[in-house]
Amino acid sequence: MRILSIETSCDETAVSLIEATGADTTPFEARVLGNALYSQIAVHAEYGGVYPNLAKREHIHNLVPMLTQCLTQADELTENAELPHAFEYIQKILDREPELFEQLKVFLETYGKPRVDCIAVTYGPGLEPALWVGINFAKALSLAWNIPIVAVNHMEGHIIISALEQHDETYSLKPISYPLLALLISGGHTELVLAEPSENNTHGVPLHYRLVGQTRDDAVGEAFDKVARLLKLPYPGGPEISRLAEIARANKLEATPMSMILPRPMIHDNSYDFSFSGLKTAVRRVVESKETFTDVELQQFAREFEDAAADVLIAKTIKAVEEFGVQTVVVGGGVSANIHIRRQLSETLKNTAELLVPQPELATDNAIMIGMAGYFHALKKEFADPNTLRAEGNLKLT
Ligand code: KG4
Ligand code: ZN
Repeated sequence: MRILSIETSCDETAVSLIEATGADTTPFEARVLGNALYSQIAVHAEYGGVYPNLAKREHIHNLVPMLTQCLTQADELTENAELPHAFEYIQKILDREPELFEQLKVFLETYGKPRVDCIAVTYGPGLEPALWVGINFAKALSLAWNIPIVAVNHMEGHIIISALEQHDETYSLKPISYPLLALLISGGHTELVLAEPSENNTHGVPLHYRLVGQTRDDAVGEAFDKVARLLKLPYPGGPEISRLAEIARANKLEATPMSMILPRPMIHDNSYDFSFSGLKTAVRRVVESKETFTDVELQQFAREFEDAAADVLIAKTIKAVEEFGVQTVVVGGGVSANIHIRRQLSETLKNTAELLVPQPELATDNAIMIGMAGYFHALKKEFADPNTLRAEGNLKLT
């Protein structure tokens, strides 16, 4: 089955084409035929965060170029032999995105239908104005090419991509033992989720979830980004804080002055919930009480913040692993790219559970993860009704 996938939930405009087989009677196997991603980081950097309407505008500008790039890479752009049809309806679907309609019209007049069986699109969670652009684009393509849509939960995409491994060009499923616990850490989420295998799926892909804990305020990625901003570091903050913290570790700069020591919020709390806004406030207090930071102090402080965030994430994960007898821990979401968090988790879990992490380049948002998750639902014929499909900013895993 060939799946064209579209991801526009936040500040990445991404389109990919994958070809997948199996996961029913034979093992799952997939190849990425085309993959295009436009990161809006530079656009949002000056604000230190993502602006929903700006993100929407950027998705509108970039979807057709990303689609073209993806299909070119897959060698699926052919001249249009048939007269394009249904423009009237397509225009209606893209009523609120006239610029996208104009670009898509030219595209459809120029190129024929690629070999694609369905379209997977992220419908939540995320920024609703941004999600809508991807959804409407998927609806338009589904109509133009007469193929169904699979609506994908972005967080499930992060889980599934962590459960895959790549050998040469081929992706397969890593062995999974249940119970499975997913630690989802991104710019919008901090969640602990238990997953069960799906019934009519013999290869153990999780497709049913139960939330056991979540952040009560800021997401951990958001905390990285806000703290970076307080420290006048570039957006997104995660990679930069991580880089400085690693320098501190390499230079054994652990003697943080007492005044720089940060709290580990909710670490001893009985629930599986998190809270990162107090950590951010503690950082602000330190920043306000100090005139300047030397380079070394900045490295030490970045390390202290990263240690604090990691300590809490790891303590709660271990607690859940013990209580639920977890066999496999999957880490997903942009913050799972963090080297320190990966290292600490792998060290702590080494004798208790299997740890699955995504390939670093697939940890942050991309369309490949949406296509992969979409495949498992398409296999079960779980298609969306284009008339009722809508953006769900607060979509939960179920
Ligand atoms: O999953 P993602 O790409 O987008 C959302 O769905 O939110 O995650 C983006 C988040 C940002 O907050 C970014 O700062 C964080 O992931 N991030 C990191 C690292 N790389 C990205 N945080 C910590 N360490 C990293 N290496
Ligand atoms: Zn994400």
